[in-house]
Amino acid sequence: MHAIPLTPILLGASSLGSRDGADELADALIHSPLGGVDTSNAYAGGRSEARLGEAIRRAGGLPAGTLVYSKADADESGRFDGDRVRRSLDESLTRLGVDRLPLYHLHDPYTITHDEAMGRGGAVEALIRARDDGVIGAIGIASGTMAQVHGYVQTGAFDAVLSHNRYTLVDRSAHATFALARELGMTVINAAPFGGGTLANGSGNYGYREMPADFAAHLQRVRALADEHGVDLAAAALHFSLTSPLVDATVVGITSTARLAALDGLVTADVPAEFFAAVDALGAPPPSGTD
Ligand SMILES: NC(=O)c1ccc[n+]([C@@H]2O[C@H](COP(=O)([O-])OP(=O)(O)OC[C@H]3O[C@@H](n4cnc5c(N)ncnc54)[C@H](OP(=O)(O)O)[C@@H]3O)[C@@H](O)[C@H]2O)c1
Repeated sequence: MHAIPLTPILLGASSLGSRDGADELADALIHSPLGGVDTSNAYAGGRSEARLGEAIRRAGGLPAGTLVYSKADADESGRFDGDRVRRSLDESLTRLGVDRLPLYHLHDPYTITHDEAMGRGGAVEALIRARDDGVIGAIGIASGTMAQVHGYVQTGAFDAVLSHNRYTLVDRSAHATFALARELGMTVINAAPFGGGTLANGSGNYGYREMPADFAAHLQRVRALADEHGVDLAAAALHFSLTSPLVDATVVGITSTARLAALDGLVTADVPAEFFAAVDALGAPPPSGTD
C-alpha cells in the first residue's frame, strides 16, 4: 500500500462553487489548519476544483502543509475508461494549478462494471500508471454502492477507500468493508459523518434521500438521548467517526465560512462515553435507505 499524508479531518468541498461566497470559502479552506481539502473533478461541474485552484493562485501556491485530494470522474456521456481517467487527471491538475496530488480516487463508478474498471485499458490501470509515474501518490475507491465498494476493496488494488453516510452514529453499513480495508492495510476515509446534514442541521433527509419510517424513528430516539445527556448531536456524530479505530480521516461537508468556523467547536466539544453507550444500547440501527 502507498502511504497517504493525511489529517484526521478533511474539509469536504463538494458544494464549493454552487453557493454564494465561493471565493471567500475557497481561501478559508486552503488556509484552514483543521485539515486537508477533499474535492473531485465533477463537484459543482468542475467549479469546486476551479475555485480551489484560484485560491491556491491567490495564495501564491499551495500553502505549506495544505493537502488537496481529488477524484477521477466519468465524462458527461458516462465514459469512464483509462483515457477518460487520464483526461480527468489532466483537468484536475490544470484547474488546481498543481503538478501532483497525494491521492486520486476512482469516484462513483456507476457507469462501468467492476470488470471494465479493473480490466485492460480500464480506469484502474490508468490510475496505477499515474501513480507509477509519480503524478499521484496513491489511489482510492471513493464509493459506488456499498457492494461495489466492497468488491473494489477486495481486489487489493487500492491504497484507500472512501465511503459516505454509511458509517455514522446511526448507520453502520460500511463496517465490514472498513474492517476488510483495515486488514488489507488500506487507508480508510469516512465521508459525510452527519449523514449529508441531518445529524448537524436537522434536515429531513439522510444520505441525500428520504428516510425510511423505522430509521427516522431510530434517529428520533438518538436525538432524544442527545437531549437527555445534554450532548450536541453534531459534535457526537463527528466524534463517533473521529474516535473510531476503523477510520483514518473523516470528511465533513463545509458549505460556508460560518460552517468552517463552527467546526473547531464541534471537534473540541465534550461528548461523554455514556452517550455512545446509550446509543449502542438502542441496538443495531435499521437500514437508512442508503445503498
Ligand atoms: N463518493 C464520494 O466520494 C463522496 C460522497 C459524498 C461525500 N463526499 C465528500 O464528503 C464530504 C461530506 O459529505 P456531505 O457534505 O454530503 O455530508 P456531511 O458531512 O455529513 O454533512 C455536511 C452538511 O452538514 C451541514 N453542516 C456542516 N457543518 C455544520 C454545522 N457546524 N452545523 C450544522 N450543520 C452543519 C452542512 O449543510 P448546510 O450548511 O447546508 O446546513 C453540510 O452540507 C463532501 O463534501 C465530499 O467532499 C464524497
